[in-house]
Amino acid sequence: MTIQEKIQKLKKEKNAIILAHNYQLPEVQDIADFVGDSLELARISSQIKEKIIIFCGVHFMAETASILAPDKKILLPDINAGCPLANSITPEDVINLKKEYKDYAVVAYVNTSAEVKAESDYICTSANAISVVEKIPEEKIIFIPDRNLGYYVSKYTKKEMIIWNGFCPTHQRILPQDIINLKERYKDAKIVVHPECRREVLELADKIASTSGIIKFVKEDNSKTYIIGTEVGLLYRLRKENPEKEFHLASPLAVCPNMKKITLEKILWSLEDLKPEVKVPDDIREKALKPIERMLKL
Ligand code: 13P
Repeated sequence: MTIQEKIQKLKKEKNAIILAHNYQLPEVQDIADFVGDSLELARISSQIKEKIIIFCGVHFMAETASILAPDKKILLPDINAGCPLANSITPEDVINLKKEYKDYAVVAYVNTSAEVKAESDYICTSANAISVVEKIPEEKIIFIPDRNLGYYVSKYTKKEMIIWNGFCPTHQRILPQDIINLKERYKDAKIVVHPECRREVLELADKIASTSGIIKFVKEDNSKTYIIGTEVGLLYRLRKENPEKEFHLASPLAVCPNMKKITLEKILWSLEDLKPEVKVPDDIREKALKPIERMLKL
């Protein structure tokens, strides 16, 4: 049996489902039952009937699934698949910010730990950050932890925003000059980037969107060539779903080492041993659920 066949067999026997983020390795995306962005994966975790979720992504995503689906077993095939952006802010930092800026609402990007979510008022993802900030009643906002997404949102709102100085090291490695060089070679190419890119990169873009937002945009757009400013994993799906189009990764350095920790072998071991499990403790879960539910309602 191939490793893929072993995974499929065990998955059926154990009544498990495999969810994968758009940045996962091609072979992981191919074995998954559903591939999507953070918002889609959060939604689907709470809607599916299977009791075991093999979550192919990073730690905060598995935690979000655990918060939304406490009755399910959430397995993260490599427990060390973390997120430096999520790690850039602690719950104590949020408590201190709230003390300093008393009448502000805390809007936390989903790339945060469960403990940080528990101290926040609203959660957003890159797919809905502008609409969350616009729709909530508060006019003053502490936006955590991504400074680039915060900058992008601040361009579309008149609300006052205090922005935490965190960033994603993978997106940070994409430089404006990378985009300019590619644009000189591919003059008709559209520049499509993720809002975690540096603001100088965002300013060069034709379109800024979440990972699934980029996929949707490319599908509906009639250009032939694209310069893609996000993690390399997305290019696999873009090429697979749009074989007639041409995609150029903005920088060869746009590779997330944490997303790449999930392999077929680790998925198989996870299914065999039913670990490593990510389970958010009840007291934190109850507090963290509220801002997530507020987002899902919006
Ligand atoms: P998306 O929600 O756009 O998939 O982004 C998640 C992420 O972690 C980007 O680095």
